[in-house]
Amino acid sequence: MKANIVLLPGDGVGPEVVSSTRQVLDAVAKRHGHELAYSSHPIGGIAIDETGNPLPDSTLDAAKKADAILLGAVGGPKWDDPNAKTRPEKGLLAIRQGLGLYANLRPVRSFKELVASSPLKPERIEGVDLLVLRELTGGLYFGKQFREQTERGVKAVDTLEYVDFEIRRVVRLACSLARARKKKVTSVDKANVLESSRLWRQIATEVSKDFNDVAIEHQLVDSCAMRLVTAPGSFDVLVTENMFGDILSDEAAVLTGSLGMLPSASLGEGKLGLYEPIHGSAPDIAGKGICNPIGTILSGAMLLRHSLGLEAEAKSIELAVERALAAGARTKDLGGANPLSTQAMTDAVLAQLEK
Ligand code: NAD
Ligand code: IPM
Ligand code: MN
Repeated sequence: MKANIVLLPGDGVGPEVVSSTRQVLDAVAKRHGHELAYSSHPIGGIAIDETGNPLPDSTLDAAKKADAILLGAVGGPKWDDPNAKTRPEKGLLAIRQGLGLYANLRPVRSFKELVASSPLKPERIEGVDLLVLRELTGGLYFGKQFREQTERGVKAVDTLEYVDFEIRRVVRLACSLARARKKKVTSVDKANVLESSRLWRQIATEVSKDFNDVAIEHQLVDSCAMRLVTAPGSFDVLVTENMFGDILSDEAAVLTGSLGMLPSASLGEGKLGLYEPIHGSAPDIAGKGICNPIGTILSGAMLLRHSLGLEAEAKSIELAVERALAAGARTKDLGGANPLSTQAMTDAVLAQLEK
């Protein structure tokens, strides 16, 4: 098949991990006789530097016309001035919203080869296979936001808003994804305090009635955060508000040994999706060629699966990653005596693809 892929390398380690993933996608395409055409566009800090806008119109237009989008990361200290007119992160939020990508799938699997890389006890994390489904275009990230001078001082306001249909569509997706997995959904909220969470719980309960074969439970986000590290094996699909999902998924990365391991897919109604690792631009290690490319490489696998319908090809990448880890390949974040560079880790995955 032929496909157009938009690359958005972004900032920090973004270009490094996108380059690794392109090499892996190219190798898979060659083996299976597919033709992948790429175009690269600015987003985030580099786009602010070039155009003043963290999501230039030309980038959004190209993304709309693509079959799939692969993103590295945005942001960094250079653009952290609190008084700046705009921020790199705005570009990321705008592309998610502009493409209607309301569902962010963040699968978390513990690789048995990496059990020793996690600070958690092996018996807790062995066999963990869960999916955080993060609502991505609503909630605290997209409510009214402003500052004002009041009699009591400067006031800053963020609001957490949801309309019922936004909750319904993402919980429906959670239930149908659970159907193909362990048939369990944990809907995570803060219904003991927040009105938006009480609506979330009400809608989740309603939706679950259409999925008799799926068991739904509700859990408050604070105790869920605790359970993620004490009993991660008890989860299948978690579905939750935008910021709760952001925080819980970074926490869940500890189960895999490193934040650099986790991929994600952001999906909407159609086939178009945006694929990115869950980590950020890692300014502390950017430019050194030592970051872990696996989260992005596995995002490439998700791209083949969800946007291009290439399941066997996606699996071949996942298997190659597993085999490279089994053969002892480790970047610095995963520990080990002889850490590999980003390119050496990429080569280790490419070598396994050949087998
Ligand atoms: P971060 O995820 O960039 O880094 C957190 C820690 O994890 C750092 O020590 C980093 O070195 C390490 N790390 C992250 N990815 C790694 C990888 N692939 N290999 C090895 N180690 C890795 O989070 P942060 O430092 O809080 O944020 C830095 C910047 O990134 C901020 O500007 C933030 O807004 C942005 N950010 C962007 C995205 C995105 O583009 N999707 C996601 C998260 C944060
Ligand atoms: C992520 C990031 C982003 C988010 C930031 C950079 C806007 O943390 O993709 O997880 O919070 O969604
Ligand atoms: Mn995040």
